[in-house]
Amino acid sequence: MAAPVRIVGLGGTLRAGSGTERLVAQVLDRAAALGAQVEQITGPMLALPLYAYGDPPGEAAEHMIEALRRADGIVLASPGYHGSISGLVKNALDHVEAMSRDPAPYFDGRAVLCLATGGGSQGANAALTTLRSITHALRGWPTPLGLAVNTAGPLFDEAGALVDPALAAQLDLAAAQLVGFARQTRASAGDAMTCDF
Ligand SMILES: Cc1cc2nc3c(=O)[nH]c(=O)nc-3n(C[C@H](O)[C@H](O)[C@H](O)COP(=O)(O)O)c2cc1C
Repeated sequence: MAAPVRIVGLGGTLRAGSGTERLVAQVLDRAAALGAQVEQITGPMLALPLYAYGDPPGEAAEHMIEALRRADGIVLASPGYHGSISGLVKNALDHVEAMSRDPAPYFDGRAVLCLATGGGSQGANAALTTLRSITHALRGWPTPLGLAVNTAGPLFDEAGALVDPALAAQLDLAAAQLVGFARQTRASAGDAMTCDF
């Protein structure tokens, strides 16, 4: 039997109980139910030093990079801040430059589910577009379904279940696309190219 695909959830905020972080956890739970190995990098784990080209990455960034190197698929998540993604998530992504000369550079060969939240649909959609653009820049394969979630209303009930069945169905489909695509692309991962940008 083939080894399970590995899915890393990257993103969230430093705020305890962050909706973005909880939505990533929802996707990872679904991915695990589909047989994937999952790992979440969120909250304080994202508080990396400001990226400086050429500086040693430090322990926390190394941990994130090693998790991404092992990943077959990635959930990339950010809140919409001021019309884009948050600086916290962007800084973490800048550290992915450490993977530029890997046999599978950056997110090469990896399925990437982009998940954005916002206090309104404008912010969430702007952040989703940015996450997809970054995924392309990093040579990842965005899944067909991306998620732009408006967090203006309550997302979860007191038991921690999603309030909106339509959103739950979107997360089901997104997780299925991510795991399915990760299984397909694993076989062809790594085009053995490097680049200088
Ligand atoms: C600094 C800051 C800037 C924000 N900018 C926007 C924005 O431009 N558009 C928008 O729709 N929501 C904006 N929001 C709302 C967040 O995107 C929204 O609350 C998000 O779901 C927060 O996710 P969290 O629950 O993970 O903290 C902003 C929130 C903060 C704290």
